[in-house]
Amino acid sequence: MKALVTGGAGFIGSNVVKYLLEEKWDVRVIDNLSSGSKLNLNKLNIEFIESDIRDPESVLMACKDVDIVFHLAACVGRQKSIDNPILDSSTNLLGTLNILEGMRIQHINRIVYSSSAAIFGELETSSIDENHPQNADSPYGVSKLAAEKMILTYCGIYDITGICLRYFNIYGINQRYDLYGNVIPIFAKRIFSNEPITIYGDGDQTRDFVNVKDVAKANYLAAITDKGTNVYNLGSGSSITINALAEMMFKCAKKKSNIIYAPNRIADVRHCKAKTDKVLNDLGFKATINLEEGLLEYLNWFKDYLF
Ligand SMILES: NC(=O)c1ccc[n+]([C@@H]2O[C@H](COP(=O)([O-])OP(=O)(O)OC[C@H]3O[C@@H](n4cnc5c(N)ncnc54)[C@H](O)[C@@H]3O)[C@@H](O)[C@H]2O)c1
Repeated sequence: MKALVTGGAGFIGSNVVKYLLEEKWDVRVIDNLSSGSKLNLNKLNIEFIESDIRDPESVLMACKDVDIVFHLAACVGRQKSIDNPILDSSTNLLGTLNILEGMRIQHINRIVYSSSAAIFGELETSSIDENHPQNADSPYGVSKLAAEKMILTYCGIYDITGICLRYFNIYGINQRYDLYGNVIPIFAKRIFSNEPITIYGDGDQTRDFVNVKDVAKANYLAAITDKGTNVYNLGSGSSITINALAEMMFKCAKKKSNIIYAPNRIADVRHCKAKTDKVLNDLGFKATINLEEGLLEYLNWFKDYLF
């Protein structure tokens, strides 16, 4: 099998690439390196196209002679999308349309899409199944939802099977620190830099963290399933408070930071975890990496990357 992985130089994409290579697949990556790094693909035997999914010609070339597309390239994050909504939608929605057109023209009939729990927006329950109302409340949530719907629409019109995986909070190796980063890399940077960490609200809000190696496996299972087009929530199915996460990270890093409590941020949800029954029943996917073990491995990797 030969796969095209869009955004393959990114955090999750590079882990998907590694997984596919371990399964003896051939892999081509298209990435413009805007947030990804070639370091993530170091020593991996792949074909790399440094190009932009907003460019239809490059996408058409990238889609040539592949059997399946894993589509991860995106402008990622709520705040980033509020700061630059045009970049967000041109990448996440129009970029996805370019991929679908590339697939249609090159007769590729399978796509696994990295969607996001951001499509749900404000949550009405704490345990989220696939039918939870979709009230995306950021340009990012809207563009990821629109891309998901565009994929499902193409699957309805053409001979394409599409599996959309809506990720909750992903962490793990190759997740670097950046301005718009997620809580785990931010805490990791502060802990190793002997700086205090900031927790918004009382810290008893909960989140569902899933290790990127589990996510890479889910992408593979989505690629080989004989179930048809569908959408799945992808999380560990359990949650942890941010206070407990901080303590677990102190324990794993063998270092402690002071905690500063700041006022709640607007739009921060109180409790959130994925319902995992559907993805278990259909794809046989269950997250297997225990959070503490995953954090230990991540923090060891992070220390090397930081210093
Ligand atoms: N990290 C999470 O917790 C999370 C949660 C939900 C969904 N997702 C989704 O997972 C996917 C991967 O996210 P990630 O966390 O690995 O982010 P990332 O920023 O590390 O990866 C995105 C990759 O896409 C590339 N890219 C961006 N714009 C591009 C363009 N126009 N053309 C070509 N390449 C481009 C970047 O260079 C990068 O390598 C995204 O689709 C994101 O929406 C991530």
